[in-house]
Amino acid sequence: MTIVIFGGAGDLAHRKLLPALYNLHVDGLLPPRIAIVGVGRKEMTDDAYREFARQGVAQFSRRPIDAAAWQTFAASLFFSAADIDREAGLAPLGARLDIIEHERHLSGDRTYYLALPASLFVPTVKRLHAARFVARGGGPAARVIVEKPIGHDLDSARAINDAIADAFDEPQIYRIDHYLGKETVQNILVMRFANSIFEPLFNHKYVDHVQITVAEAEGVGTRAGYYEQAGALRDIVQNHMLQLLSLVAMEPPHSLDADVVRDEKLEVLQSLRPIEGPAIDANVVRGQYAGYRDEPGVDPASRIETLVALQVFIDNWRWAGVPFFLRTGKRLTTRTSDISVHLKGVPPILFNADAANRLEPNILTIRLQPDEGFSLGISSKKPGPRVEIAPVQMDFHYGAQFGGSSPEAYERLLLDVMAGDPTLFMRRDAVETAWRWVMPVLDRWATQTDPLPTYRAGSCGPAEAVRLIESTGRTWRALE
Ligand code: BG6
Repeated sequence: MTIVIFGGAGDLAHRKLLPALYNLHVDGLLPPRIAIVGVGRKEMTDDAYREFARQGVAQFSRRPIDAAAWQTFAASLFFSAADIDREAGLAPLGARLDIIEHERHLSGDRTYYLALPASLFVPTVKRLHAARFVARGGGPAARVIVEKPIGHDLDSARAINDAIADAFDEPQIYRIDHYLGKETVQNILVMRFANSIFEPLFNHKYVDHVQITVAEAEGVGTRAGYYEQAGALRDIVQNHMLQLLSLVAMEPPHSLDADVVRDEKLEVLQSLRPIEGPAIDANVVRGQYAGYRDEPGVDPASRIETLVALQVFIDNWRWAGVPFFLRTGKRLTTRTSDISVHLKGVPPILFNADAANRLEPNILTIRLQPDEGFSLGISSKKPGPRVEIAPVQMDFHYGAQFGGSSPEAYERLLLDVMAGDPTLFMRRDAVETAWRWVMPVLDRWATQTDPLPTYRAGSCGPAEAVRLIESTGRTWRALE
């Protein structure tokens, strides 16, 4: 097959896609005959592209470069310029692909990866369609991969989805949310549905509340151009966090078929209680780290949020009344993503009779990164003649148990596209349902002019986020 990467000389290709493809090659998981063709506006020779790829792999691959493996991998890399602004702008690319596929005896099956800003999705797909790059029905397979965020709001997401649907059928479309490719995120369903101990507890009878955290220590870095149009709600909550929420809250699917799993996840998004009007101010907190406005490329008067904390309810039978607290932010104390399920306390009798010294409720913590694993906090008697109870952790670490480095999310996701398995990709209805749910918040924020709460870089976020949860009698888990 041929993988055509639009934005092939860009940041995503450099840091993630080319290193992921290299690791798949080292693991012997790429098809034996393959061409990877980077596409960009500026001309570049194949050799220059191979050098660009080598630098990306050297810097960002989870494995160091092996000279022999690199040589065979590099031989499958090519570059071609294309200009999507011109009507015949894809002609040179088409001719080049035909030659490469002919010389390498490839079938003509192609995957087009749009590693581009969302604003370029529609024009690129329209050109692909008009230039007859996409076979539907019979003939060689064509697939397209688009990256989150799909659009800027519900309308633009619909416009992108419509344009893609003009050229590709839904089963040919792979919408990436790279969180779904993370090993630990895939393990959420295994943990829930391959064990009998947790699932009976996952409901309003036993769970007091759930916290989902995606914390980053890094700031906006070099991505101000994008981030100034996005902010944390669009960048992380609308996609990554709502996907995590769906996985932790969904009903057991009746099979592992892609659409059965995705139907159940969609049900969760459809059951989210709308947050509208003044309820937004009470349930959604935003903040900006001090110094954000001084970052290169950031508007000195920017009102873009770098942190969001919110309280969410899922109005279905299983989760009625259980608050889900979500928080994400840049420039926090540490980089950590996790989900913690806080069980209800035991009755206030026996070991829990002392009102001044209540037992800690059990907490199941699923650590998504960086210390992948999960732990269960339980109460245990300290050895000795008196009954003294201490909280202890039962702890599972991927690294200690399985060793080695887990495959990167993009490795798994690229492999799934090649295998034609859409389970870990977002379906159109899920993307649009998630946008529909966040839109009232975005719309309200757009009308507000009061200053955003700020927080110190390297802190745990603004006081407002702490109040959001503490006003319900609960506390955030410490950011460790
Ligand atoms: C991306 C966001 O989707 O996810 C970035 O656009 C964020 O802003 C990144 O930094 C976090 O991904 P990870 O895998 O490092 O948690």
